[in-house]
Amino acid sequence: MGRAFGASVAESLGKAGSMIDGHTKLAGVMGWPVEHSRSPMMHNHWCRVNGVNGAYVPLPTRPEGFDQALRGLAAAGFQGVNVTIPHKEAAMRACDELTPTAKRAGAVNTICFVAGRIIGDCTDGTGFCDNLGAHDVAIAGRALILGAGGAARAVAAALLDRGCEVVITNRTLERAEGLVGALGGGEAVAWYEWPSLLSGCSLLVNATSMGMGGKPGMDWDSALREAAPGLCVTDIVYTPRETPLVLAAQARGLRTVDGLGMLVHQARAGFRAWFGVDPEADHTTFDLLAASLR
Ligand SMILES: NC(=O)c1ccc[n+]([C@@H]2O[C@H](COP(=O)([O-])OP(=O)(O)OC[C@H]3O[C@@H](n4cnc5c(N)ncnc54)[C@H](OP(=O)(O)O)[C@@H]3O)[C@@H](O)[C@H]2O)c1
Repeated sequence: MGRAFGASVAESLGKAGSMIDGHTKLAGVMGWPVEHSRSPMMHNHWCRVNGVNGAYVPLPTRPEGFDQALRGLAAAGFQGVNVTIPHKEAAMRACDELTPTAKRAGAVNTICFVAGRIIGDCTDGTGFCDNLGAHDVAIAGRALILGAGGAARAVAAALLDRGCEVVITNRTLERAEGLVGALGGGEAVAWYEWPSLLSGCSLLVNATSMGMGGKPGMDWDSALREAAPGLCVTDIVYTPRETPLVLAAQARGLRTVDGLGMLVHQARAGFRAWFGVDPEADHTTFDLLAASLR
């Protein structure tokens, strides 16, 4: 952890407020790098508005020191941590226990330290579905997922477990096939095929990294030509909020949901477990995050 740790902890604690005392509950996010994470801003905001005596700090953790750091945080009395790139899979191995959701997602993003045990969960899939729910989007029918990486797996598992028919496509077909095999459900299709399947779909999810930084990655407008009028298009990329896919879908008059809400909703379970309060995914939270992404 090193010098960056000291600087970022000081910054986070300063923002958390002046009420840090012997009873303050601690949590944080382990990543490498971790400066870009919006989680400290979000959790410390929730501590403030809910009157929680808690603080959430960035924990820059080198991959080779992950296990030691995790055990150290548990021993130091932290309530738990979030885990981000590149530790989501290492966290699976380091935990003493995994929730069924983490096993199914093949990754851990939220950890609780309970009675000396390290318990790993994955809240990405629930966060994705809760965000759709917050936009009154029904989780039903046929969902087409673009991508077969870590986030795609969590989303696919959550949609399958909620009764959707799931079709997964990926630039590298073998990864989509591997995902279908690992989840024991869904169907893998070749990348070139997916636009022609849209007419039978109720939901299109971009779970690739295409669109990050506003770079389109492909001709979305042409790809959406066959979309049914009732299709809901959602992008889990949230930098920028209005990705090229979201803009192309809006231009076609399709319903869209951006990825920032997934980030907010996946964080709520951790906050609830560590600090004992269910935080509201309200507009002040979104405004704060959106301003930081500009
Ligand atoms: N909103 C949220 O809360 C949230 C949560 C988690 C992740 N995310 C975002 O989701 C995105 C994916 O994350 P991840 O962890 O799943 O990443 P990952 O494991 O690295 O997977 C990346 C995926 O993108 C595909 N891909 C990359 N470049 C592509 C291109 N030019 N054309 C077609 N496919 C391409 C990859 O296909 P190949 O297999 O062929 O390489 C793979 O399926 C990231 O932008 C991340 O920030 C958002």
